[in-house]
Amino acid sequence: MSAQIISGTQLAAELREEVAQRTQALIAQGITPGLAVILIGDDPASSVYVRNKVAACEKAGLHSVHETLPSETTQEALLARIQALNEDPSIHGILVQLPLPDHIDTHKVIEAISPEKDVDGFHVINAGMLMTGTPLFKPCTPYGVMKMLEAHHVERRGAVACIVGASNIVGKPMAMLLLADGATVTICNSKTRDLAAHTRAADILVVAVGRPNMITGDMIKPGAVVIDVGINRLPNGKLCGDVDFESASQVAGAITPVPGGVGPMTIAMLLVNTLEAAERSAQNKV
Ligand code: GUN
Repeated sequence: MSAQIISGTQLAAELREEVAQRTQALIAQGITPGLAVILIGDDPASSVYVRNKVAACEKAGLHSVHETLPSETTQEALLARIQALNEDPSIHGILVQLPLPDHIDTHKVIEAISPEKDVDGFHVINAGMLMTGTPLFKPCTPYGVMKMLEAHHVERRGAVACIVGASNIVGKPMAMLLLADGATVTICNSKTRDLAAHTRAADILVVAVGRPNMITGDMIKPGAVVIDVGINRLPNGKLCGDVDFESASQVAGAITPVPGGVGPMTIAMLLVNTLEAAERSAQNKV
């Protein structure tokens, strides 16, 4: 193996420590940052993510409310709950874990969250502000990836970046953030012809598809920085990414592991966004 490992575990711990300190400063002013996390149903992977988010909040001294609603919850009931949280002054961030059951319109739910409390950065106002260069919140996973690239002094200006996966949660906002830093960005999707031609041209390759080990070493430019956003559970119970670590790490210059790569950063950036939402609301009160 030749690639340098880009760990998210250590960087996320440092960010969480910084959040804890800023949280104490805010508490001293009489404001405790509060995050509400709503999970609909009992999808095991989503349940683990939500539990980890809530635990990280509490460890950093933030107030958190964790609500698990049954999978048959109606859209109206969910929208009413969001409205109540929008009006609750002890809550600065609202996160509805995705994906939602099929009978609920995801767009309607996201647009119901007050943009000032949309710590996921998924609301059209926040997505638009990200696109035009004045984001209120950067979506947590791409934000975490940018922090990792910064911490490892990965040059974005002039770099060729390829993103595999065009989701609203990762791929599209990732492209906006890399573009803002001066990278030349390509977003690949499931219809892309000759995917390997695109991935092989990339100095920075970000993969967020949800398909175990789909990017292999022969699809990577020698020396490239490879960021694996995928977290997949194999039939044997083991976790793996969207990148085949074994072959990719022979070719890449630097690579994130799974687990211990992007995952911890997503949670750290959620805490940063919640803290900043609370700091903004404190500034608006003075
Ligand atoms: N599902 C997978 N990733 C995310 C995320 O970052 N936020 C929310 N709300 N749901 C998700």
